[in-house]
Amino acid sequence: MSASASDSVPAHVAIIMDGNGRWAKKQKMPRTFGHQAGRETVREVMTLSAQLGVSVLSLFAFSTENWRRPRHEVGVLMHLMLKTIAEEVETMVEKGIRFRMLGNRLGLPAELVAAIERAEDLTRACETMQVVLALNYSGRWAITETAKTLAKAVKRGELEIESIDEQAFAAARPIADLPAVDLLIRSSGEMRLSNFYLWEMAYAELYFTDTLWPDFAEADFKQALAVYATRERRFGALTQRG
Ligand code: IPE
Ligand code: IPE
Ligand code: MG
Repeated sequence: MSASASDSVPAHVAIIMDGNGRWAKKQKMPRTFGHQAGRETVREVMTLSAQLGVSVLSLFAFSTENWRRPRHEVGVLMHLMLKTIAEEVETMVEKGIRFRMLGNRLGLPAELVAAIERAEDLTRACETMQVVLALNYSGRWAITETAKTLAKAVKRGELEIESIDEQAFAAARPIADLPAVDLLIRSSGEMRLSNFYLWEMAYAELYFTDTLWPDFAEADFKQALAVYATRERRFGALTQRG
């Protein structure tokens, strides 16, 4: 990691896809209508990311806290995710997009887990871009899982406590091979992380837009990338721009 002015495309873009409910409310429709509409944006952003040379696109689809929503809404969300994964897998294979799910698979409907595993298997060799679907995910969950993994390794005598450094911790995370997040985009005007990637966003550039997720379009995504290109990333070192 070096201090450099970033004028390039972010390697890892993470998106908090927010505002589906408010979008639906504006149309006087049920919240789930907004989730349905948001699927089209997912498709567009995925295609665009691959075209623009993004290596990893992480999409926050369902947080561990989202179980607090009404049972009906959760059910619809699970169903829509299954449908989206099943429908998009062919396009992902065609476009060379590797699909990976990040999150706790326990507690998810069996059919959804099956669709996830199928998409992961079919796209395993794809190399153009990776799409990481964060589902039943939270940053604190991931950190806790990592702590457990390390503790088990210590217990087995495979790891010395003293050798647990940032590198060892990073390597024990769920999906440890992803690069750090370069750019976080959040739609809908909320300016918080809502327990998305925590470790991974330690040095991410943050971009917030008022656009609601179903309205988020090519121009919004390009704008986020354009703003990113103007940011100077210093990583604690001194400026190179003088
Ligand atoms: C994002 O839209 C989708 C999920 C969190 C699953 P919301 O459903 O949070 O939409 P708002 O924030 O209520 O508008
Ligand atoms: C964050 O959005 C989670 C996802 C987009 C999946 P929320 O709408 O759940 O976040 P809060 O509750 O406003 O923080
Ligand atoms: Mg929301």
